[in-house]
Amino acid sequence: MNENIWTEFAKSYDQMIPELNCYQRMLSKILRDTEGRRMVIDAGCGTGLVSQALIDRGHRVVGFDNNSAMLQRAHDKKAAASGEARDRWTVMEGSVEHFPSQVVSDADAVLLNNVLFYVQDVESALHEVLSHLKPGGVMIATGPKRRPDLQKVLRHSIAEWQAEGRFTEALQAALAHHSTCAQKLTTDPNEMVTFFEVDELVDTLRCLGFSRPLVADGDDYFGENYYVCMQK
Ligand SMILES: C[S@@+](CC[C@H](N)C(=O)[O-])C[C@H]1O[C@@H](n2cnc3c(N)ncnc32)[C@H](O)[C@@H]1O
Repeated sequence: MNENIWTEFAKSYDQMIPELNCYQRMLSKILRDTEGRRMVIDAGCGTGLVSQALIDRGHRVVGFDNNSAMLQRAHDKKAAASGEARDRWTVMEGSVEHFPSQVVSDADAVLLNNVLFYVQDVESALHEVLSHLKPGGVMIATGPKRRPDLQKVLRHSIAEWQAEGRFTEALQAALAHHSTCAQKLTTDPNEMVTFFEVDELVDTLRCLGFSRPLVADGDDYFGENYYVCMQK
């Protein structure tokens, strides 16, 4: 397991990230594009926020991550789920560059939600995704198109919270911790290493053997992030 910046992020991740309207808008798109796709692999699942939403809707989910602090929170969510939901939810340690051997190889969908920017060997990760999808299955990848403008995302998010009257003291405390981590993440060249423009990612996926994009846009996180849903 890796000791890295995600160990620190994990301390405020679940207090901060689900509160971001831009995260919820992206999650809605993931739920839209996984509708009816029963078996989902959540690669780089973090604290299990997306996995939880899929489990709540009745999917089977295999989630894995290589940071123990993030993954512990996914284990906690699974432990708090009902017995039937727990049976549909597998949480394990693993790298997106070499999926764990226990992961199913005939998934209906594989998610790489805000993960690729941290991955050194992106080609290996995308090969793994392709080989774990059944024909007609989809990969959904999201992430920054370039080194993100953190201040822009925070400014817009705070304005939304204030307009909605929910910029509470608890949220301000979570934001203060998260911003310190995010500042390092977004400015240290050794932390964020991989960015994709939308067309560049679609072309890369086509070259690797994916067939066609179902959705490809650059709208999320106030225009900072790509969202690509590509069919095998
Ligand atoms: C921004 S968080 C996203 C977490 C989750 N997908 C979500 O939507 O909330 C990035 C996650 O990717 C994980 N990660 C980064 N590189 C990884 C790798 N090579 N293998 C597995 N997990 C990785 C980190 O540990 C972290 O939990």
